[in-house]
Amino acid sequence: MKFLVLALCVVAAVADPHWVMLDSSEVGLVKSSWDKVKTHESDILYAVFKAYPDIMNKFPKFVGKDLESLKGTADFALHATRIVSFFSQYISLLGHDNTQPAIKTILNEMGYNHANRGVSKAQFGEFRSALMSYMKSHTSWGDNVEHAWNDAFDKMYYVIFANLDGHPVA
Ligand code: HEM
Repeated sequence: MKFLVLALCVVAAVADPHWVMLDSSEVGLVKSSWDKVKTHESDILYAVFKAYPDIMNKFPKFVGKDLESLKGTADFALHATRIVSFFSQYISLLGHDNTQPAIKTILNEMGYNHANRGVSKAQFGEFRSALMSYMKSHTSWGDNVEHAWNDAFDKMYYVIFANLDGHPVA
């Protein structure tokens, strides 16, 4: 019975025409480039806040503070680690048919939480631009890597944006 439910979930995930599936070479490129930056947690969050102060101002703990002084604090490191760990978890689930339902579950939850905080699609777009710029300057970037990351973000944002619109992805 459990197997049947899982099989139906996998079929549902794969049958959704909006559900992007990365092929194994894309997954490899996303993983190898992420491995180069995934220990730069605070630098990544700094780059995001520096480029888009409106994102920083959404955080009750950070709003109105000086980014340069915030960067070395424990609160800053903690949040940076949360975001980077979320990406690491997402990326570790890519590339397998049987992990597609788990990907939807973590993204629905994350999207729902951020919808409740009033984070907009435009702000998610800003976050994406800032992270991609950071990756471009800290990895061996190329069109193939960019294409793979665009697919990874499109897959992630399809679920997050559906939640911002008020309906989780089944
Ligand atoms: C893909 C991009 C993002 C990822 C992976 C991400 C990830 C996370 C994670 C894992 C948490 C902690 C768990 C939770 O409470 O939900 C969190 C909290 C939060 N995020 Fe995000 N986030 C992203 C984008 C954004 C953006 C663009 C904003 C604001 C414009 C934002 C604002 C917040 C706030 C305000 C919190 C709560 C912080 C607190 O507990 O004080 N996030 N985020």
